[in-house]
Parts: sequence; structure tokens; C-alpha cells
Amino acid sequence: MTDDDCAALLPLLNLIADGGVHSGVHLARRLGVSRAAVCKRVKKLADLELRVTPIRARGYQLDRPLELLVPARISEALPANLPKPFPTIEVLPTVGSTNSDLLQRARSGQAAPGLILLAERQTAGRGRRGRLWLSPFGRNLTLSALWRLESGLPALEGLSLVVGVVVAETLRAGFGIAAGLKWPNDIVVNGRKIGGILIEVDGDLAGPISVVIGIGINVDMTDAATQGIDQAWTDARTEARTSVSRNDLSARLIAGLALALERFSLTGFKGFREQWCLLDVFQGLPVSVSGPASSSLEGTARGVDKTGALLLDTGEAVHAISAGDVTLRIRR
Ligand code: BTN
Repeated sequence: MTDDDCAALLPLLNLIADGGVHSGVHLARRLGVSRAAVCKRVKKLADLELRVTPIRARGYQLDRPLELLVPARISEALPANLPKPFPTIEVLPTVGSTNSDLLQRARSGQAAPGLILLAERQTAGRGRRGRLWLSPFGRNLTLSALWRLESGLPALEGLSLVVGVVVAETLRAGFGIAAGLKWPNDIVVNGRKIGGILIEVDGDLAGPISVVIGIGINVDMTDAATQGIDQAWTDARTEARTSVSRNDLSARLIAGLALALERFSLTGFKGFREQWCLLDVFQGLPVSVSGPASSSLEGTARGVDKTGALLLDTGEAVHAISAGDVTLRIRR
């Protein structure tokens, strides 16, 4: 389905998103089209993996209510006294990857720093280590934020861990979800991944650079979307035991991010180290860390140092392991 096809379905989706039964006549009148055209559009929703049941003599019903993202609702929910690094919020009906789109716009001078890009659906989303991060229509949170750093790449050290703190604390404080962090920046609940972070940059080593902060959170996953995920996962709805508003979650995340980035500019990761360690799910546990060349180190996880490197206590020495192609598993 093209971006335009997807965008064309939004007016219909807005009308039926509440999960109620809506008559074809009513929908046709509201959309200014024929009943046959409504029927055609309803059928098209299947391409977005949305199931609509035709109810005889009554109308159409979406199988589960859907909360569409609304930039104005998100902006209104932001605290008034917030530092304002993100003045613009844009929602795309569908996108390959919010990160790639934003990076591309930044490169071509088509995006000002401070743009937040959200998407209802992500078809070629990118995760760490070349993984895919797909997101079915209207169910999850895929957010990319464009930030500009004048001082170059070294000042970014630990930023992805800081964003992890923001996400975990947002889920905890806003929704009562027992989120923790798995080094470097997986957000997990009881050993199951609920979200991830991918930071990408464009610019000179010495600065200034454009920084795209990508955050993906499972909010209300569908069974179809979970096929192919090769690790234990969960979503916010399951963990909060109630539905989670994606507009509310977006606003809380953006607010948390704005405050954290302001602080990060002043303190670097050092100022977040303690917070990160409090959320660390492996703290004090026996772990093995494997690198790219199938080398592996065993020891006890001792949190992170002031640069965000993982501290691994092997009994003989404490090794500081920097972010990279390293995986961490609890030893069996
Ligand atoms: C991970 O593998 O843990 C990182 C996942 C990051 C996914 C997010 S979703 C929004 C943004 N756009 C992308 O293409 N990726 C990131």
C-alpha cells in the first residue's frame, strides 16, 4: 500500500476508530462518498492488518478500538514550563523507517532540529545490529526526534543509555510498568523486551552533527506482528493491565526527552549514571558478554562507568566494555 493510499483511509479510520458499529449510510454521508466506495475502503483496511466486521443491517465495526496519534493532543499534553527543543510534532500514516526518513530530511536540509516524527505504521523500521523493527498500524509507538549537537561526536557518549533511562522511567511513572534496562539500552520487563532505541548521526566527527534519536515501544502488539521476533517480548498494554494511550505516552516521552537532553548537555552521561544503575536488570548478576569474534567474557555485572561502558567483574579485574556488537546473557 502506498503512503497516499494509507493517508486516504484516515478519514474513515477516524470515524470507526472507537470500535462502535457505524452504518454504511452514515459513513458515506460523513465521507461524502457512495456506500459502495465506503465498502471498498473498508476492504482496503485489511491491507493495514485492520479487521473490520460487517454487521448485517447495522454497519461496520473495527475488531478493536484504535487510538490514532494526533499532534495537537500530544502538544497540549506537554507541560507548559518545559524546555522546548521539540517544537514540531508530525505524524505519518505509514513510513519505511522514522529514523531513515528524519535522517534523510536532515541531510537534505528539509528538517529543522526539534522535529519529532511519529508514524502510525512502520514497514522497514530499523533496530540495532541490522534487525528489523516493524510496527503494525496504530498499535505501537515509533518515534524519532531530531536534535542538533554543536560539539561533535564525542559529546554523544552515553546518549543512548540516557534515552533508555527516559523510556524506562516514563513507563514506570506514567503507567506503573516495572520497566528496567538491559545494557546498553534495551527496555525490558521481567526479561521481556518492551522497547528499544536506535541513535543515528549525520555530520562531522568534530561537529556540528544532526542526531536522530529513534525510540520504539510495543504498546498493543498484534499476533501477526510478533511473528519473526526472535526474542522474548511484551507490550505496555499487557504490563499495565489496561489500555495505554499512545498520545499520552508520546507526550510523556517527549517531555522526558526534553528535560533529559537539557541535563545531558550540561553533565553528559555522568549525570545519569546513578539513575541508569538503579534501573539495571543485570546489576550484581553472573553474566557472559560475547563480542563479534565469538569471544566471550564471564563475570558479574557491576553497572556502568561514567562513559556508559558496562563494568564486568571477572574476579581478577573489572573490565569496562564499550557499546558495540556485544550481547549480554544471564549465565545458565
Ligand atoms: C533495537 O533494536 O532495540 C532498537 C529499535 C529501535 C526502533 C525505533 S522505532 C522508531 C525508530 N525508527 C526506526 O527505524 N528505528 C527506531
